[in-house]
Amino acid sequence: MNNPSKPRGPARPHPASKHPSRPENPRGAPGSPRTFARPSKPPLRVQTTTLWEYPSQHYGEGLQGDPRYVGATPSYIPWNLMQRYTSEGDLVVDPFCGSGTTLDVAKSLNRVAKGYDLVPSRPDIEQADARKLPLASGTAALVFLDPPYGDHIDYSDDPRCIGKLSAYDPQYYEQMDRALDECARILRPGGHLGLYVCDYFDKKKGLAAVGFGLLQSLAHKLEIVDIISVVRHNKSLEKGNFHKAAEEQNFFLRGFNYLLIARKPEPKPAPARPRSDRGDRGDRGDRGRRGPPR
Ligand SMILES: C[S@@+](CC[C@H](N)C(=O)[O-])C[C@H]1O[C@@H](n2cnc3c(N)ncnc32)[C@H](O)[C@@H]1O
Repeated sequence: MNNPSKPRGPARPHPASKHPSRPENPRGAPGSPRTFARPSKPPLRVQTTTLWEYPSQHYGEGLQGDPRYVGATPSYIPWNLMQRYTSEGDLVVDPFCGSGTTLDVAKSLNRVAKGYDLVPSRPDIEQADARKLPLASGTAALVFLDPPYGDHIDYSDDPRCIGKLSAYDPQYYEQMDRALDECARILRPGGHLGLYVCDYFDKKKGLAAVGFGLLQSLAHKLEIVDIISVVRHNKSLEKGNFHKAAEEQNFFLRGFNYLLIARKPEPKPAPARPRSDRGDRGDRGDRGRRGPPR
């Protein structure tokens, strides 16, 4: 419903260090130094409530990921997760890496990052299926994923693309369950996972509660830490008559995405054995003494 014609996901070449959002000021007088119209972006801050919002897709002076990539993640989301749950040098993994937003954020924070996608859009993204990652178990401090939410974006011609499966098809949830198994496998004990996802609504089929579907799956593998509501700034919704239609036809447009945060439990320490099992002898006179027997 939100997007009747399927946009195509893969990006054109990554714009590297270019700043398309900073056009030259056309009013600069001939011969005068060139000036640039800088977009005003508020400074980044760690989000402290379960309602997250930032008015731009990118932060700072540069770009993270490719702004032209349909379905790119707002970069302040992986930035916030890395600030909270990782330290410098930690491994961050994105199994559905798209235009590489997570890699750029990780680099800016001195984290080590690995990104995978069926159709890598740039050389630092490795070709792999999110359901079988070429990575050792228990190694990642953070896994961030923004997977397809159904089949409303045409990411590639690869038949293994999870974006070929409708959010109304149980197969979508089965395949995402396999990808989440793989995420849980590569996380180190105590490591965190952030899953960015949105529900889908079709006027004829009704609601596909994708967020709740994936939350159920996740809860079988990891501990749920929290559920964040991320305010959507979808420019395409501002163009058409979507809001008028939503009012007249009595349905709701998607106003938020979920960010599901989960954690891999640490192994529980083995319960202390009672003294009688330890072979302690009551006649040594060392009861209550700390440290090794002298
Ligand atoms: C929503 S996009 C990710 C956007 C990315 N976070 C960014 O900021 O650019 C989803 C990505 O998942 C990829 N994908 C779909 N199925 C996949 C699979 N089975 N294994 C790996 N990647 C897959 C698509 O090719 C697409 O690039």
